[in-house]
Amino acid sequence: METLLQKIEGYRREIEGYVTNGAEAAEQFRIAYLGTKGLVKSLMGEMKQVPADRKKEFGQILNEFKQFAEAKYNSLKTVAGKTPSLAAAAIDLSLPGDLIPVGSRHPISMMRHRIVSIFQRLGFSVAEGPEIEDDWHNFTALNLPEYHPARDMQDTFYVSTDPAWLLRTHTSNIQIREMEKGVLPLRIVCPGRVYRNETISARSHCFFHQVEGLYIDEDVSFADLKQTLYFFVKEMYGNDVKVRFRPSYFPFTEPSAEMDISCQLCGGKGCNVCKNTGWLEILGCGMVHPNVLTNCNIDPEKYTGFAFGMGVERPALLKYGINDIRLFSENDVRFLRQFSGVV
Ligand code: DAH
Repeated sequence: METLLQKIEGYRREIEGYVTNGAEAAEQFRIAYLGTKGLVKSLMGEMKQVPADRKKEFGQILNEFKQFAEAKYNSLKTVAGKTPSLAAAAIDLSLPGDLIPVGSRHPISMMRHRIVSIFQRLGFSVAEGPEIEDDWHNFTALNLPEYHPARDMQDTFYVSTDPAWLLRTHTSNIQIREMEKGVLPLRIVCPGRVYRNETISARSHCFFHQVEGLYIDEDVSFADLKQTLYFFVKEMYGNDVKVRFRPSYFPFTEPSAEMDISCQLCGGKGCNVCKNTGWLEILGCGMVHPNVLTNCNIDPEKYTGFAFGMGVERPALLKYGINDIRLFSENDVRFLRQFSGVV
């Protein structure tokens, strides 16, 4: 009996120190210790030799040993389950995959696209120009010579003074650059960002966006300008909207006008957005001034043209029901996410 107990104690230590891995090794352990010809079975066979009064005690010790061996086998099996090949087999292919977040287009990009695409359907193509501009293209060539009072209409950010480099105050600089290329007729829309030294508030910002338009050919008249802009307004705001032209002044056009549409919010009755006038100003326009054509080496006796310029922020505020222009440039994802799926 004592030697039997010592044997069991020896086996227990053997099992404790048993370190192995892999499913095959676990199976070998099972056969050696727990199988039908294994150690536990053979120890049970020793029961016959145990004196009758100690059979109960031996039975208990043997039983504990069996449980110990079984626990070891289970832990060996678990370790084996974590080996790469078995882990791979455990991948659940029916689980949903990781969701990739979809971005959204910026409301200013969407509005710029709407505006530009209407003119593209009329045969206008897109032209772009630099945001850091010289004095000639932003002012002088546009019939705004140095000390011209109209320069004060736009508070300019200067990058340098001599020579003067500045942040363009309007997209009209692109008109000049395109006309200077000398390829006529010319029919372009010019979207872009512009800069003015203005106090930032809910209604104005030191940078914003414009779309400029220009059409130069022989025999272009004010009637062409009006029909082009009527078409734009109907496409953009619908058939019911009313349009009016008011005489205005821009150095680069003569005659000049501003175009208003009936207020989108109150339907022309008067509200705080249209300052109770029932009208919203949406763009400036006119016939290109002969001096501007001459500055670009275009013969004003042969060619005429019209131009217009409009802001992008204002129509975007109206269309998407936004009340603060600063939201457009703050990059707050909670604001921007609202436009995913909007076109
Ligand atoms: N450049 C003007 C502005 O920023 C807008 C404008 C008015 C552009 C009349 C034009 C135009 O081409 O003909 O306020």
